[in-house]
Amino acid sequence: MDHQTEQALIDELLGLSRSGSAYLDQEVTYSDVTDYLDETRFAAEKASLFRRLPLIACHGSELPDPGSFLRSELAGQPALLTRDRDGQVHAFLNVCRHRGARLVDDESGCKFSFSCPYHAWTWSNAGELRGIPHQKQGFPDIDKSRYGLVRLICAEKHGWVWVVPDPGAGTDIDAHLQPLTSDMDWLQMENLQIMQTDRVVCRANWKLLIEGGIEAYHFHVAHAETIGPHFPDNLSSYQMLGPHIRSVLPRITFGELAETEVKDRILRNHANIVYSVSRHRSGWFKRITSSGFRWTRFPPV
Ligand code: FES
Repeated sequence: MDHQTEQALIDELLGLSRSGSAYLDQEVTYSDVTDYLDETRFAAEKASLFRRLPLIACHGSELPDPGSFLRSELAGQPALLTRDRDGQVHAFLNVCRHRGARLVDDESGCKFSFSCPYHAWTWSNAGELRGIPHQKQGFPDIDKSRYGLVRLICAEKHGWVWVVPDPGAGTDIDAHLQPLTSDMDWLQMENLQIMQTDRVVCRANWKLLIEGGIEAYHFHVAHAETIGPHFPDNLSSYQMLGPHIRSVLPRITFGELAETEVKDRILRNHANIVYSVSRHRSGWFKRITSSGFRWTRFPPV
C-alpha cells in the first residue's frame, strides 16, 4: 500500500468518525438462507473456489531449508509441499503413482527423497521418479519420466506458499494475486515467522465465518466483554482489490490520528486490516490480518 492510499483510508475513516456515519453500500442486499445450507451449492463452491483458486498452503518459513517438507490437506486433496536443493518450492498430490497409497505419513521433516510405504517406489523431492524395486522383472518398459508425482500449481509469493489443489485447474497465481501486490509488499510478510498454530473447527458454513470478520457492526454487542471496548462502535471501511477485499477496522486509538502530522500517520498502528483473498461471486476465503502473524484459513470439510 502506498503512502497516498494509506492517508486516504485514514482520512475517510476520520471523516466517518467525526460525522457519526457508517460506511455503507449503495443499497441493502439480501442473501437467501439456502446460500448457507444448500449441499449442492456447497459442493460447487468447493469445486470452483477452494480447488481451482490459490490457497495459502503454508508460510515460507515452514519450509526453511533445502529438503524441508510438509504434509497437508488442501480442500480435501492430500498434498505434499517440498523445498528442493535449489530452494524452489514444489507442491504435489501426496499419492503414490503406482497404486495410490499415501506416499508421506510424517507431518513435516527434512528429506530429499520419498519412498512409498507399500512397494517402495521412490521419488526425489522435486517429484521425479527415481527408483522402482524389481523394475527389470515387473516394469521393464516403464518410462520413468511419465510417472513423476502429480504436480500442483504452486508459487512462493509475499512470504506464503500458494497452491491450486486441482491439478487440472491451470490457474495463473501471479495474475490472480496481482491486485494485492502493493499491499502484500507493504506488509512484508516474508520477514515473519510462525510462532504458534491454532486449529479451530466450527460447525458452520464457511461464509458465516468470513462475513463476521469483515465488519465492526457486531463488535460492541457480540464482543462486549472481550474485544469490543478496543474498537469504536461500527466504524470500518472496505475496498475491492480486483477479486479480493481489504477491510479496515480502526482500533480505539484511531482518533489520535486526527491530531498527528500526516507524514507521521501509520494506519497499522491504529487499525486492523483484514484481507479476504480470492473472492468469487458471493464467496470469500482466506483471511490475512495485518496485526501480526496471524491468519485464518477456511477449508471446507
Ligand atoms: S503403492 Fe506405492 S509403491 Fe506400490
